[in-house]
Amino acid sequence: MGLLIKGGELVTAEGRRRADILVEDERIAAIGTGLTAPANAEVIDARGKLVFPGFIDPHVHIHLPFMATFAKDTHATASRAALVGGTTTYIEMVCPSRGEDALAGYELWKHKAQGNSACDYAFHMAVTRWDEKTEEQLREIVRDGTASFKIFLSYKDFFGVTDEEMFHALKLAAELGVITTAHCENAELVGQLQQELLATGKIGPEWHEPSRPEFVEAEGTTRFATFLEATGAAGYVVHLSCRPALEAALAAKARGVRLWIESVLPHFLLDKTYAEREDVEGMKYVMSPPLRNKRNQPALWHSLEAGSIDTVGTDHCPFDGEQKALGTKAFTQIPNGIPGLEDRVNLMWTYGVKRGRLSEQRFVEALSTQPAKLFGLYPRKGAIEVGADADLVIYDPEYRRTISAATQLTNNDYNGFEGWEIEGRPAVVTVRGKVQVRDGKFVGEQGRGRMLRREPQYFRGETHAS
Ligand code: URP
Ligand code: ZN
Ligand code: ZN
Repeated sequence: MGLLIKGGELVTAEGRRRADILVEDERIAAIGTGLTAPANAEVIDARGKLVFPGFIDPHVHIHLPFMATFAKDTHATASRAALVGGTTTYIEMVCPSRGEDALAGYELWKHKAQGNSACDYAFHMAVTRWDEKTEEQLREIVRDGTASFKIFLSYKDFFGVTDEEMFHALKLAAELGVITTAHCENAELVGQLQQELLATGKIGPEWHEPSRPEFVEAEGTTRFATFLEATGAAGYVVHLSCRPALEAALAAKARGVRLWIESVLPHFLLDKTYAEREDVEGMKYVMSPPLRNKRNQPALWHSLEAGSIDTVGTDHCPFDGEQKALGTKAFTQIPNGIPGLEDRVNLMWTYGVKRGRLSEQRFVEALSTQPAKLFGLYPRKGAIEVGADADLVIYDPEYRRTISAATQLTNNDYNGFEGWEIEGRPAVVTVRGKVQVRDGKFVGEQGRGRMLRREPQYFRGETHAS
């Protein structure tokens, strides 16, 4: 059955125009005014609504064994949460620990998603150690269509790689033409600072930020950029949180390093005072890099609008109150992470676009089009064009609601944005032409989501200018 979306304002990275969209066989078949519906097609009245390309979250954790526990979502819960929030594709980090086999990990992560997700998905493959076998397996994983790597400069002895391992991973990435995403913090400094703080009785969540100060992230960012320069690889800094790291990344971009920057929802809106709340209330806001002093936020917003921060993800990583309380005796034991997948689009719309910090075009570009381009999904995803997948978000800008854990689909007992007002929501969301959300509610087919396989070569020769 076809679908005709009539009279909406199409908002893309290029601009805004009123038009109808005809969907056939999962794809956009025509865009124009006065389109007529074929027999049996469903007609959706989009007058007074905005129509966006489906949003893409380039950085989520769903299956994640981490810090003596597991992140709470499954693909069933996470994909429903994503869809009601307007995200039609997410890219999950495959994170086997250092002691585990890369290929076995990859197969496990694929198995967890297969048949369970209601939206489309892809993976970034974490390289958590380096040896001959791992190299061979990474080549196989890239051949299978997972054409981006992840490395951690932090989390020593668990996910983290040494400089030597990073060098080898980036050489392989350069050879294969895949982009490498990186968590940039100096693991050695974090470990030393943590021990110093604990030794003087500083055990609460408010000490998490001082254990990973801004210069620790700036150093990691600089080092990653230096290794990209040495290897010729392309890189992407994930969850950049502060001005010194931003300056390090921008300096590298300016000298021609092929580096792109992601910042994530919490760092635009929350600050370190949240993690300074008492006990578990503060622990709920412990993530890495940590929430920073608010003075960093104007630079993040400004760079996002200017296009020097390229994308906005979430680093969605839900742990509930009981899990967070594992860190009651030492902040170093608090599972790091916060959910955000369900609320990214509405919060960036409300506190970015509606507050005049972000243009509609940059909003669409940073939350949809640019992730699609950087990770080999464009123009199938991230665009409203004839031939693109019909992943569409029909957005009601008049809707008003207050965020609450009591009504969320994310599998967690708190929401870091509890009580925040949103000014708009996805009314209807389609995944490859099928309505998965209607009137803001998930009405879809649970296993509809497909793994998106990507060509490794998509990244060859890409520069900031192209
Ligand atoms: O605190 C965070 N960010 N948790 C998830 C793992 C990571 O570093 O991305
Ligand atoms: Zn990280
Ligand atoms: Zn992450």
